[in-house]
Amino acid sequence: MALLELNEVTKRFGGLTAVDRCSFTVEAGTITGLIGPNGAGKTTVFNLISGLLKPDVGKILFAGEEVNGKPPHLITRKGIARTFQIAREFEEMTVLENVITHSPTRGLPDLLKRSVLKEEREKAIALLEFVGIAHLAYEEARKLSYGQKKLLELACALMADPKLILLDEPAGGVNPRLLERIVEHIETLHRQGTTFLIIEHKMDLVMGLCHPVIVMAYGKVLAKGSPEEIQEDPRVLDAYLGAA
Ligand SMILES: Nc1ncnc2c1ncn2[C@@H]1O[C@H](COP(=O)(O)OP(=O)(O)O)[C@@H](O)[C@H]1O
Ligand SMILES: [Mg+2]
Repeated sequence: MALLELNEVTKRFGGLTAVDRCSFTVEAGTITGLIGPNGAGKTTVFNLISGLLKPDVGKILFAGEEVNGKPPHLITRKGIARTFQIAREFEEMTVLENVITHSPTRGLPDLLKRSVLKEEREKAIALLEFVGIAHLAYEEARKLSYGQKKLLELACALMADPKLILLDEPAGGVNPRLLERIVEHIETLHRQGTTFLIIEHKMDLVMGLCHPVIVMAYGKVLAKGSPEEIQEDPRVLDAYLGAA
């Protein structure tokens, strides 16, 4: 059984059909790539999976259970995490507080009451150690560099013990050394059983890391296959040229 399944999912914004009867599956244990020209609907697909948007039509199944239309915090609890830029209101908090706030059983009000459980604090510190920024735990999040914020985002996503992690352009604006570290973290988590769905423009990264690769264009899935198959598929080249 697929871990994630989109079944004929459609999302319109006014007259624009951003996602158009889109169907695909993500198998458990894979690092699946999601590529396609700008405007293909990739980020909208992530917003639909993570509950920020509701599909107009179609179903989204996670571990066999319908999750379309469920609110984001419930989807997180079911085991789907995604990275976001650190929200502005969290910039004044410390790095550690940011991670703790992403615990699915805790919210901001609990944190402000200083009633954070010891285990959650320890888990957050362990995650900061994992991504390599534990030395910054007590700094305000706004003081972090762009790359360090990326690592913080990953630590935040991991706080909910996700089965599936959605990454939207993890390499964007990241220097090669940091990118190498992010890739290492992805591979470590993958070996431990986490499934990934990754939107990425850097083709060398997609082709080296992802298997299989799904190609979207005009809101639909155009092709799905191994990196080699995708690279040789003339429809994929056409989609990129057509959008240029
Ligand atoms: N909230 C929104 N309101 C209106 N149009 C949107 C919204 N989000 C995305 N779009 C449009 O939907 C299409 C798909 O966008 P997006 O999912 O961001 O594509 P991608 O991530 O593949 O570049 C684009 O034409 C974009 O302008
Ligand atoms: Mg996008």
